[in-house]
Amino acid sequence: MVDRRPERLAALRDAMRAAHLGGLLLTNLPNIRYLTGFTGSSAIAFVTERDLLLITDFRYATQVREEVGALARVSIEGQSLWAGLWRILPELGPVDVAGFESGHIVHRDFERLTTAGAGWHWRATSDIVEGLRERKDDDEIARLAAAAEVATRALERTVASVRAGMTELEVAGTLERALRLEGSTGFPFETIVASGPRAALPHARAAERAIAPGDFLLLDFGAIVDGYCADITRTFVVGRASEEQRAVYEVVRGANARAAGAVQPGMTGRDADALARRYIEERGYGEEFGHSLGHGIGLEVHEAPRLARTADAVLPERAVVTIEPGIYRAGWGGVRIEDDVVLYPDGPRILTTFPRDLLEIG
Ligand code: GLY
Ligand code: MN
Ligand code: MN
Repeated sequence: MVDRRPERLAALRDAMRAAHLGGLLLTNLPNIRYLTGFTGSSAIAFVTERDLLLITDFRYATQVREEVGALARVSIEGQSLWAGLWRILPELGPVDVAGFESGHIVHRDFERLTTAGAGWHWRATSDIVEGLRERKDDDEIARLAAAAEVATRALERTVASVRAGMTELEVAGTLERALRLEGSTGFPFETIVASGPRAALPHARAAERAIAPGDFLLLDFGAIVDGYCADITRTFVVGRASEEQRAVYEVVRGANARAAGAVQPGMTGRDADALARRYIEERGYGEEFGHSLGHGIGLEVHEAPRLARTADAVLPERAVVTIEPGIYRAGWGGVRIEDDVVLYPDGPRILTTFPRDLLEIG
């Protein structure tokens, strides 16, 4: 696999120059991982035109050397990462203006910047590294595809064993075990299993409810492979589907197919959202699709770009995004169908291949 870190750092330094930043403090772990390869749970980093400093603690002393190698100057701190930063920072400057990640710093640490921050001028920045992460390289797409395959295989195993009478929690346990057996290193978010009327709750938590014949069963879950996430939703009917269930399902399926087939780089997130929203509105269900169409996916399960009514930003080539239209009717149930899609200039590639026809299971 090609080591992409030098080109990512070069792109970051270009962005820093464009923003007139002599240095940038990184406190967001996925951004640090993207730039340095370090996967631990405790780190801060500081980038200048010449230097890359990575500070972590004793628990990661061995791991950080293996993962980061000679790319960065690494400091292992026994007490506090911030104490290490203040000690080393003067050696990396002076810097006229240094940025910090305003979305990833707590107020107490922000105050330290102004009191202990080497006397430099500190400026709030947002989404500089996140912007670089939107466009995925071939290795990242391979990992996202692998995560989607793990999720697909885990769902196949799970669906084969679902029966009426099982509780949502039992189904969640079966699914999470299958994800582990298929190779997922973790769960990017809490597994959603929502049955019957609870399928109307877009972010339901799996509960003790026993699944009954005629219920919708909505499963929304993820997998992680080499740090990269999958995010997929399928909705089934346990036993036989009613006419009304079929009608609602077909609208969601049509909206998913329309958007997943037509989403393109160069569109705004708003235009992408409208592909599905218009389809659902034209069929009279607009009020029941109350959330956004999707989001970027990568090292984080929710990242840029957004596909939403309020998203003016243009979708870049090689972004990987979810397409997840849904229709929810309180007290009755709901349907969501979610796929992960790569935006290539010559057309979208859908990574989550589990069938989208209405399956009657159990
Ligand atoms: N359950 C998280 C999502 O689909 O975005
Ligand atoms: Mn999801
Ligand atoms: Mn999602």
